[in-house]
Amino acid sequence: MTETFTIAIDGPAAAGKGTISKAVAARLGFAHLDTGLLYRAVGAKTLTGTDPIVAAQSLQPEDLDGTDLRTPGVAQAASKVAVIPEVRAALVDFQRAFARRAGGAVLDGRDIGTVICPDADVKLFVTASAEVRAERRYQELADKGMDVTRDEVLADVKARDDRDMNRAEAPLKPAMDAVLIDTSDLSIEAALEAALKEIVSRR
Ligand code: DC
Repeated sequence: MTETFTIAIDGPAAAGKGTISKAVAARLGFAHLDTGLLYRAVGAKTLTGTDPIVAAQSLQPEDLDGTDLRTPGVAQAASKVAVIPEVRAALVDFQRAFARRAGGAVLDGRDIGTVICPDADVKLFVTASAEVRAERRYQELADKGMDVTRDEVLADVKARDDRDMNRAEAPLKPAMDAVLIDTSDLSIEAALEAALKEIVSRR
């Protein structure tokens, strides 16, 4: 396929959008960009003293490789740098170019359907209750051997939701034309099936 086809998948932390995005991209043979990683890489740099705007403007592909980008501390730092308009602006061109790749692209994040790709061919908003999301994230972190409690993870998820939804620039919200998928009571397979049904109907 030489044409472009853009799938925008937004939603709050741990709603399942990463899992769905990866699976959709693999199924269709599309490229996948987890845009949260861009903000995590910038956030991680601020933890070692780099100015967030400088970090965003000088971000390199290899900055996305670190496995330590998946920690709760980096997630909070990412959510904090994500409120800064200059940080967001520095990351726009890369995301838009990725979205236009020949062969199709899946981008997941918070503002893909609203700001980055308002003309995306398919927009999904994947969500779930804060409690369900916190439990999933807790299991992930506990499986990795991280020393966290359920209460800490729930507080983290709520703090991040609050910051992501209430910032002035590109807040987390469903695009007007996004299809909502609530994964609170869905298995991974059922959520993936719901996503693919929407995508196939628009191809
Ligand atoms: O998807 P994630 O949990 O890896 O994202 C980390 C943070 O990055 C999230 O709390 C807010 C920010 N983010 C954003 O503002 N816009 C995006 N498109 C993706 C992530």
